[in-house]
Order: sequence, then structure tokens, then C-alpha cells
Amino acid sequence: MEKLIIAILLLSTFLSACTNGKSIKEKSNKVESNKNNDNEKDKNEDKIDTDEILLPKEYFNVLQTVSGKQIIQNPDNDRLLVNTKYYLSSSFVPENLEIPKVTFAFSDTSVEKAHLRQTAAEALEKMFADSKSSGMNLVAVSGYRSYQRQSVLFNAEVKSKGETEAVKWVARPGTSEHQSGLAMDISSISYGSKLDQGFDQTKEFQWLSENAHKYGFILRYPKGKESITNYEYEPWHFRYVGVDVASEMFKLGISFEEFIMNARPM
Ligand code: DAL
Ligand code: ZN
Repeated sequence: MEKLIIAILLLSTFLSACTNGKSIKEKSNKVESNKNNDNEKDKNEDKIDTDEILLPKEYFNVLQTVSGKQIIQNPDNDRLLVNTKYYLSSSFVPENLEIPKVTFAFSDTSVEKAHLRQTAAEALEKMFADSKSSGMNLVAVSGYRSYQRQSVLFNAEVKSKGETEAVKWVARPGTSEHQSGLAMDISSISYGSKLDQGFDQTKEFQWLSENAHKYGFILRYPKGKESITNYEYEPWHFRYVGVDVASEMFKLGISFEEFIMNARPM
């Protein structure tokens, strides 16, 4: 029985890895992302010049389809890909949520948005401390969000802007990285702790662009990758993926979707 369970788990990990890596051209330095190939121009832009990306098997999503949705079965993996296609279960709450010792945009740090998963919290602390030594004034604005909180935010956005516009900015419940406890929205004191695209004109954003990967963070919704991430450019949304993945992504200059979709399990 135990052997059977192990075999099923190994098989599902492998199948999931295959799903995630289906567009890989083996042994090729030119890989093409599996983004919707809307037109020829987009296709050409999506050619990724890279060596093969190899990732430990456990970094890939293990998926199960429930009521037509692909639900991540191994959400404790801190390299998980949560996006418009891959859902967290509505009951998922990360273990080891912590309040990082950083400057927040609000004073009551007992609230859920002040929390991050332990690994991400520790990395954020280091990043904020080092940025301060370099004269930056980063501020943490919004971290962990429960499924319920994301529902409230999503419904409010739909009410104010309509669904077509809302989905470009706010994730549907179950599809937000904030529920994973691995994402933090970051701004600066001098920018008034605002979360808007003008943040990319600040020295703090410049510092983050050059250094976040050293702490394991990536800019998750970059400019120019909107048709791949399915979100508008968010210069404030940073996601912890670990130093190994973040550094490799920094080198390649690609989005997390492109990275995972082109990766091969090892
Ligand atoms: N703003 C990002 C996409 C979220 O709601 O998770
Ligand atoms: Zn965010």
C-alpha cells in the first residue's frame, strides 16, 4: 500500500512537471514559451535565448483538477506557480506565517497583511536592512491575504471597475500569490507608500530591480510581459522564489511563467 502511494505521488509529480514544461525543446538553446501564440510578432518576442533550465522535481506544481479548476496539491513548495490557471485551495493557509521585522505602511502589525511565510519573511528582513544601509527607505504595504480577504478585494474591484478591468489588476480568489504568503507589495516612504506604476521612477525601485534577486525575490508582473502573466505591470509586487530561481531569472530576464514553463525536472 505504502509503495502504491509513493508510486502515485511520483507519477503525479512527473505528470505535473510535464504539463508545466510541455513547450520545452530538448537539448536546445532556443526555447519558446508556451504563451498563447496570438500572432507572429508575439511569437518572435517570446523566443527565449537560454540554456536549458533544470529544476528539482519538487519545485513543480502537483495539480489536481477539481470542478474544472487546476488546484495546487503541494502549496508548501515556495517555488509554486500561482496564476490565473493554477489555483490554491480556498482552505489553504500557509504554515509558519510570521511578521517580518521591517517598516510597514500601517501601525497595527497584527493584521494578516503584515505576515509572510517564514522563508520569505527572513529574506525580506535582510533585503530591507541592506537597502536601508544603501540609503533606501522601503516600506512593506501588503503581504499575506486569506482567500476570504482576496474575495472581498476582488468583488470590490469588480463593483467599481467592472470584471474585464478588474481581472487585469486583482486576482480572482484562489489565484493570488498573496494567499501563498510569498508575495509582498513594496513601496517607499518618499513615494508616500503608494502602489502605482509611478513607483518605478523611484530610487527604491531601481535598487530593488538590481538587488531583489540576491534575496530570492522577483518582480512578478513586469512591463512587457502582460500577455504572459495576464496582469498589468505592477512595479510594487515582489514574490519570493528563492535565491537560486530568482538569480537565474534575473540572468535570463524572463517572467516566472516563462521560467517554469521552460524548465525541466531533474
Ligand atoms: N494584484 C495581484 C495580481 C493580486 O491580486 O494578487
Ligand atoms: Zn501584490
